[in-house]
Amino acid sequence: MCGIFGYVNYLVEKDRKFIVDTLINGLSRLEYRGYDSAGFAIDGDKKNEVYAFKEVGKVVKLRELIDQDKLDLTKVFDSHCGIAHTRWATHGPPSRINCHPHRSDPNWEFAIVHNGIITNYKELKTLLESKGFRFETETDTECIAKLAKYLYDQHPNVGFTDLAKAVINELEGAYGLLIKSVHYPHEVIAARKGSPLVIGVKTQKRMKVDFVDVEYADDNQPLPAETAAQNVALKKTAASTGGGFLSPNGLLGAADKSLLHRSQSRAFMTDDGMPMPTEFFLSSDPSAIVEHTKKVMYLEDDDIAHIHEGSLNIHRLKKADGSSNVRAIQTLELELQQIMKGKFDHFMQKEIFEQPESVVNTMRGRLDNPNKTVTLGGLRSYISTIRRCRRIIFIACGTSYHSCMAVRGVFEELTEIPIAVELASDFLDRQAPVFRDDTCVFVSQSGETADSLMALRYCLERGALTVGIVNVVGSSISILTHCGVHVNAGPEIGVASTKAYTSQFVAMVMFALSLGEDRASKQQRREEIMDGLSKISDQIKSVLEQDQKIKTMCENTFKNQKSLLLLGRGSQYSTALEGALKIKEISYLHCEAVMSGELKHGVLALVDENLPIIMILTRDDLFKKSLNAYQQVIARGGKPIVICNPGDEEFPNTQAEKIEIPKTVDVLQGILNVIPLQLIAYWLAVMEGLNVDFPRNLAKSVTVE
Ligand code: F6R
Repeated sequence: MCGIFGYVNYLVEKDRKFIVDTLINGLSRLEYRGYDSAGFAIDGDKKNEVYAFKEVGKVVKLRELIDQDKLDLTKVFDSHCGIAHTRWATHGPPSRINCHPHRSDPNWEFAIVHNGIITNYKELKTLLESKGFRFETETDTECIAKLAKYLYDQHPNVGFTDLAKAVINELEGAYGLLIKSVHYPHEVIAARKGSPLVIGVKTQKRMKVDFVDVEYADDNQPLPAETAAQNVALKKTAASTGGGFLSPNGLLGAADKSLLHRSQSRAFMTDDGMPMPTEFFLSSDPSAIVEHTKKVMYLEDDDIAHIHEGSLNIHRLKKADGSSNVRAIQTLELELQQIMKGKFDHFMQKEIFEQPESVVNTMRGRLDNPNKTVTLGGLRSYISTIRRCRRIIFIACGTSYHSCMAVRGVFEELTEIPIAVELASDFLDRQAPVFRDDTCVFVSQSGETADSLMALRYCLERGALTVGIVNVVGSSISILTHCGVHVNAGPEIGVASTKAYTSQFVAMVMFALSLGEDRASKQQRREEIMDGLSKISDQIKSVLEQDQKIKTMCENTFKNQKSLLLLGRGSQYSTALEGALKIKEISYLHCEAVMSGELKHGVLALVDENLPIIMILTRDDLFKKSLNAYQQVIARGGKPIVICNPGDEEFPNTQAEKIEIPKTVDVLQGILNVIPLQLIAYWLAVMEGLNVDFPRNLAKSVTVE
């Protein structure tokens, strides 16, 4: 739930100002992942010296700290390693001391930044305390730095990778981490398990290789010559310590032969075979890399990357398990433009206004309306299996869960397969039954949400077919699922999800259309929905034109209110749920979504002339029933704001204020109806002077359970 960033230059002269600016700039791009404190560690003026800076609050506070410091920014380094972190507190409150990087000792022999949770940190802490280490923070991360020093002190000749393997082998839980050490100057270790990490590579000349041919050297393969001698020494160490590799007392676990495995790597070479002057950017997310280079490599779980002397080595923590031994260097399609705010005041506002375009990107190359076809390449080989499954279970959290709720009806209608929609956390709490002939669909913007990821692993263990509907390419859910659809909404930076919701909605409707393709009886309905999809972008544009009207409405109606009700029925209940979540998380105004049919069963007691109420009353099959709730509200003196279709005479101006939304096919209406609710949430937060993109206590990517 944090952002990590690292910058390593090799044979590329950079002054300290550049290094500090690069780290701080990287952190600001990652700030959406956590923003209660930030810090970094860089090389000091003398050899074996590390300077660390930490500050509570957003990255701008860290920048202010540096500006006030007497740090010599002119010092030039031809090779250097810096690591940085922006935090969202899980263990220990936001404070300077708990802020990363964490250190092994007052001399910063090992400095660590970490995203994730080390679940066995208490055991490690107890062990290390018994060895004389004194802990200074309340974090789980500190034990990693201290463990590195403890192991290093016993084996000072060990290579950085082998040390890192020994450390990481003792960790339980999830991590994306970077390790910097005065013992291995200008080198960095990056490791991941459950938390994302991307490495960007920038060479001074055109890069000759498109992949790092990382090969796992297993027991049967000869070790690379340059490492063989070292490994012999290490094996001797292991033998002399009674089998406990790097842990003479056996306290840190038995020897693991895989620790001795070495990988082969390719350095980035010049034409004459010399190491290429290279810069590496390590990040939780490519958005912090794209302004430097588009050549990136995504680490996989159990990968340990070692960057030293311009080369990048990938080692596996565990013996190869059938997963690929090659890590491709991919070219990012992300443009810097896409992650900048442009003319907008906030990312959330920009992302709301991007929706006419983002939904088109979701459909691009997939929906062919003139020919009435939908092609989802990522599902092609699995569609017929899914059609035969016993049920489809959608599993997600928060906004992504609401998008699943929104499309449940269209799946039931077009596929006639039983559909369940589950909150990932509750699904796991119940240990719900899952079978081999189930299809489990994981919907996630980030693709890294811990609850959803754990539910995915749970379903994989039970042999179900798994499908990912994910926005972030290369994310854990997109890697671990059997097949899937990228929603292609583009990077979503604002913590409150907006364009990802509408793109998930569209992607899943296309999924339902694909599944229903073999049913002649559904053809007409499918064509109606495809027509609707082809017009949806223009309709979103026309809803967005009401932005200023909605802003005024917010000022007039919701100022100084304590609570708000949002009523919807059928699939518009999910719109109400999503609208209520947006309003709560951004404006901190209590807002409750109520299924209209349930109003009379209790909630009606709250209704009077003062309580603000928004009712979703666009015309669909349930319209008549929804009107009952409207009449109940009016009868109690309520003056609701009604989201309805243009010119609907059921709602005279004397009774209700209206937000008129174009009519589309009933199953798509939620895509349009949610937009005024996103705008209401946005303007309420702006009115209150709140930090729209970084609501308190929340982070964009929830990588903890
Ligand atoms: C709300 C919001 C969250 C996320 C939830 C799941 O605006 O963004 O509720 O939807 O944390 O995140 P993903 O979709 O990344 O799995």
